[in-house]
Amino acid sequence: MNTLNSTITSEANLPEETRAQKYDDKPAETVIEEGRTVGKPLASDPKFKLRNVEVFYGEARAIKNISLDIGRNEVIAFIGPSGCGKSTFLRCLNRMNDSIDICRVKGSLQLDDQDIYDPKRDVVELRARVGMVFQKPNPFPKSIYDNVAYGPRIHGLANRKSDLDDIVESSLRKAGLWDEVKDRLDASATGMSGGQQQRLCIARAIAVSPEVVLMDEPCSALDPIATAKVEELIAELSASYTIVIVTHSMQQAARVSNRTAYFHLGHLVEVNDTTKVFTSPEHELTESYITGRFG
Ligand SMILES: Nc1ncnc2c1ncn2[C@@H]1O[C@H](COP(=O)(O)OP(=O)(O)O)[C@@H](O)[C@H]1O
Ligand SMILES: [Mg+2]
Repeated sequence: MNTLNSTITSEANLPEETRAQKYDDKPAETVIEEGRTVGKPLASDPKFKLRNVEVFYGEARAIKNISLDIGRNEVIAFIGPSGCGKSTFLRCLNRMNDSIDICRVKGSLQLDDQDIYDPKRDVVELRARVGMVFQKPNPFPKSIYDNVAYGPRIHGLANRKSDLDDIVESSLRKAGLWDEVKDRLDASATGMSGGQQQRLCIARAIAVSPEVVLMDEPCSALDPIATAKVEELIAELSASYTIVIVTHSMQQAARVSNRTAYFHLGHLVEVNDTTKVFTSPEHELTESYITGRFG
């Protein structure tokens, strides 16, 4: 196993051809076959149908022929070593990669059977349906109230002040923040603790009634108590939303998700029920990662 370990930890720096040659000498189950994902990559009631997805940054191929369904109201966790493409793949789901000039996305990506990359698609509307929460809490330098009211105002979701008040309150309640902030809605969001800021960003994302919430390592800047609160929140939100969460923490993936997807060097190696991934993974590379042999 040590040989496998040292091979894998250093391979990220190797050119593609060298990597392929190295894998030729390995037992079959450690080989990554492009486009093949072991386990259960498909879902019976898919919200997203993603087929043969490839993402390029200039000439570099960061996502290599990935096909995956994401089920309605499921929580799916993306795990894998740093640089394996988790964020890149996540950003395809609401076209967040559009803002990166050198980035090109190929393949078929559908949300409710409609092409996400249809040039006629309204990207602002797409991002209201597929909201996003980032690694570092990024509240606007505005009041707590105005942060949550921002999306509903832009999208014209409330005609009267009282409607807007209702949306702000219900979003803050869903984000588990209402009791902490109800007496200081006019205070600046930037004065909140990191954990509160992240829950505020979640409130801001859900204020426009999205169908999906994408979270890219939402707890990596938070302490354990704030992390526990966000995880509780994910469990509550999972009743009404489809949630895709990238996480570095395998414990977190195990706690919050129904299925877990293991990424490796731009490939999607394995997708399975979360308990299966963490107790009896089907692919050797998944096993090496979850047992801490690399990553
Ligand atoms: N904006 C970018 N421009 C160029 N290359 C990028 C960019 N973002 C990510 N990459 C490259 O794409 C690969 C996947 O990165 P990323 O999706 O950030 O991985 P992860 O989230 O799993 O750590 C890496 O090789 C990374 O260097
Ligand atoms: Mg990332």
